[in-house]
Amino acid sequence: MRVGVLTGGGDCPGLNAVIRGAVRKGVQEYGYEFIGYRDGWRGPLEGDTLPLAIPNVRGILPRGGTILGSSRTNPLKSRDGVRRIKDNLAKAEVDALIVIGGEDTLGVAAELHGSYGVNCVGVPKTIDNDLSATDYTFGFDTAVSIATEAIDRLHTTAESHMRVLVVEVMGRHAGWIALHSGLAGGANVILIPEQRFDIDQVCSWVTSRFQASYAPIVVIAEGAMPKDGEAVLKDGTKDSFGHVRLSGVGEWLAKEIEARTGKEARTTVLGHVQRGGTPTAFDRWLATRFGLHAIDAVREGDFGAMVSLRGTDVVRVPIAEATARLKTVDPGLYREVGVFFG
Ligand code: F6P
Repeated sequence: MRVGVLTGGGDCPGLNAVIRGAVRKGVQEYGYEFIGYRDGWRGPLEGDTLPLAIPNVRGILPRGGTILGSSRTNPLKSRDGVRRIKDNLAKAEVDALIVIGGEDTLGVAAELHGSYGVNCVGVPKTIDNDLSATDYTFGFDTAVSIATEAIDRLHTTAESHMRVLVVEVMGRHAGWIALHSGLAGGANVILIPEQRFDIDQVCSWVTSRFQASYAPIVVIAEGAMPKDGEAVLKDGTKDSFGHVRLSGVGEWLAKEIEARTGKEARTTVLGHVQRGGTPTAFDRWLATRFGLHAIDAVREGDFGAMVSLRGTDVVRVPIAEATARLKTVDPGLYREVGVFFG
């Protein structure tokens, strides 16, 4: 058996741990051969491969990023994409593909398997934790830890100057990183894409925080929107889910707070720092288990399946279940943390 592996979409701490887990078990227990595809779906589309044997996965467990490279190439959008992938897999004598990705990359795997019979097993990844059909994705814990540490640091500088510190974290469609890091970091306001915010309400929370002699920290997900967001924010584009994406919401919010409350405000955009560097122990643990289970799914011929965390168990679900809709923050959970606002 010869197994191809690819990593697609935004990189994510823990990708290398999945690759290592699958290769180690596949080679040592099942005697399989592996081949790496470079840069997500671009690899199989163009037949661009690299060696993937035990020596190639040595020492990669704590390394962020992906040794295979990544891209957002979607072969279904290119002419002859499916035929080229099938030809290249056949040429390289690849029997099965382990596809590690988020909603776009896994959506391609679901389609290639469902409509064209390509033997794919999916492994979910995203720092955003917004994939359905799994309780957690690896990468999320690392991103939350990085954001929490940043918030801890911003508290002390905010209080030294009695300023508002607005922290913009990743999360275009889901506020999981904002919610978890904001709660862990003791933020006074957390704003998420799932719920439009009222700027007057935010300013009143900020003011009440100053009245209690504290400098407020406002955590905002990059996809959060004020009630009339489309009118006040620029650079709107629609993504593949039909959601409007706007840029610069953190900067915009700090300016509004300053203008409305008379308090000085600064913005920190954490950006790709949240995706870089070494994975946390939890992410290494989860990613390694996903890799071990993915190669078992290959061995059992369970194609079209994706490995998933349910409670403490790794189970299998249809890939399509994970890509059908996003997992967003439940309004009840958001209300629960709202007790700390202001
Ligand atoms: O999906 C992961 C993610 O990091 C999002 O949180 C973020 O909006 C996006 O990717 C950024 O993408 P890129 O690295 O292509 O700018």
